[in-house]
Amino acid sequence: MRARPLTRRRLLASTAASLAAAGSAVGAGASALVLTPRQSRGPFYPAEYPLDQDNDLVHVEGRSVPAQGEVVVVHGRVLDERGRPAVHSRVEIWQCDVNGRYHHPRDRRNAPLDENFQGWGRFETASDGRYWFRTIRPVPYPGRAPHIHFAVSGPDFEPLVTQMYVDGAPENERDRLFRSIRDPRQRESVLVRFAADSDLGGVPAGAFDIVLRNA
Ligand SMILES: [Fe+2]
Repeated sequence: MRARPLTRRRLLASTAASLAAAGSAVGAGASALVLTPRQSRGPFYPAEYPLDQDNDLVHVEGRSVPAQGEVVVVHGRVLDERGRPAVHSRVEIWQCDVNGRYHHPRDRRNAPLDENFQGWGRFETASDGRYWFRTIRPVPYPGRAPHIHFAVSGPDFEPLVTQMYVDGAPENERDRLFRSIRDPRQRESVLVRFAADSDLGGVPAGAFDIVLRNA
């Protein structure tokens, strides 16, 4: 059984308030936004893209069983330093499955692979710079705090590779890559808080705005 699709309308309705709040902050002053910090791409960017390349990582086309793990929505806007939406930018995410396994031949950890997890997805922003993904709440694996990898590129921007983390995860303070972000504002900017969203049927949603440097 396939879950009700996450349409643009439903997502926008559910997040209008938080986005409006962020929008007013963006427009409030001339000061530049905090640039999203660069982070390592890591060894597990897909060697081969999955056949299903949409923004729903919980369902793989042709499979009737959804991914294991807690379903969440990650959404946000891609902006430039002045808060203008990054139009037609490409947002890619990739992450390990609920067992801590990446869908990558170099991940040889002895953990079962969840074939029903898409592992990677992409989205292209429209004129509002917004993106969203349905995926699973990221889990820790040995040596790493829970995180989702992002690669973002757009016609007028320097491409960015980064990672988002889960606010409050106890592993964050031991994570070498997270700790490598020296600027406290940049560190704060990659922490995402998930909260149950009643407009998404109680699915936890987390907002992660991404600020790119103009090329
Ligand atoms: Fe990773």
